[in-house]
Amino acid sequence: MVGSKTVLVTGGAGFIGSHLVDRLIELDYRVVVVDDLSTGKLTHLARGVNFHHTSVTQPAIDEIFHREKPEIVFHLAAQVSVNHSVRDPAGDAQTNVLGMLRLIDASRRHGVEKFIYSSTGGALYGDPEYIPCREDHPIRPLSPYGLSKSVGEKYLDLYRRTYRLNYVALRYGNVYGPRQDPHGEAGVIAIFSRTILEDKQPRIFGSGEQERDFVYVKDVVEANLLALKEGVIGAYNIGTGTGNSVNQIFQMLSEILKFRKKPVYSPARLGEVHQISLDATKANLEMGWQPQVSLREGLEFTAAYFRDMAKAPA
Ligand SMILES: NC(=O)c1ccc[n+]([C@@H]2O[C@H](COP(=O)([O-])OP(=O)(O)OC[C@H]3O[C@@H](n4cnc5c(N)ncnc54)[C@H](O)[C@@H]3O)[C@@H](O)[C@H]2O)c1
Repeated sequence: MVGSKTVLVTGGAGFIGSHLVDRLIELDYRVVVVDDLSTGKLTHLARGVNFHHTSVTQPAIDEIFHREKPEIVFHLAAQVSVNHSVRDPAGDAQTNVLGMLRLIDASRRHGVEKFIYSSTGGALYGDPEYIPCREDHPIRPLSPYGLSKSVGEKYLDLYRRTYRLNYVALRYGNVYGPRQDPHGEAGVIAIFSRTILEDKQPRIFGSGEQERDFVYVKDVVEANLLALKEGVIGAYNIGTGTGNSVNQIFQMLSEILKFRKKPVYSPARLGEVHQISLDATKANLEMGWQPQVSLREGLEFTAAYFRDMAKAPA
């Protein structure tokens, strides 16, 4: 599975995508990135990458496939904010449904061997009937974002049945780690880290008792690589199986960063799930994946990264 193939990473200048690109370069793949830099940053991109600054919604995608001839596609480019999708559902669908479809269709026409899709577990199942959720849990998203990501999976399933396009949909929990945007609306660990390092009180929406399955970015990158294994096809949860509340995250980060102020509580936001964790037994059995980084370690790595960023000259 290692080396020399051409891989296309959409969203490769983003948080998860740029970590994946680093690892692919290390493994000697030829890496092509498509990113419109709407939330991604050029400074995250490794050297030696063929970069195309365009949107996945543009017809130029076809020309890029024609020229670069990717054998594998990792599709991470997306409108990623649940909140934004509630405010602008059509804008969300533009990237997450139509952009996605453009990529799948180009992949089919240009003979891509495997399509690895960054889906969501956190926003897909809705308020769960049981936790941790398995992949066969009913899909009842509470936001346009959750729905648009699930539509992406449905198209992949259609393209597999009709055109034999191989795919893996990785349903992530709440991914966190270095390079996550601390100015966005999502990514509570990045946002708390930045706010605490500015010695300000973080804002918690709702009671803070809402639980998420937090998974470290390096573990998510590993899942993307293991998804290339032969015989791995379909949807897989990528999470730890354990939920942690936003209040717990605040307490742990406060301890690590020696912060003594209290958070500020605001009304809960629409479209957010109350409690979710993901059963990743299938990924373990079929891909050999399991999380390697504990929450405590991951929070320490992330806090250290944001501490360094805060010290770096602007
Ligand atoms: N971070 C999480 O907790 C999480 C959880 C579940 C799923 N995901 C999925 O993982 C993927 C990566 O998310 P992330 O957290 O790294 O977010 P991110 O915002 O850092 O990365 C998304 C990247 O896609 C690019 N992009 C956005 N719209 C684009 C477009 N139309 N054309 C080309 N590029 C575009 C952005 O510039 C950015 O570089 C997304 O598909 C997201 O839905 C993330």
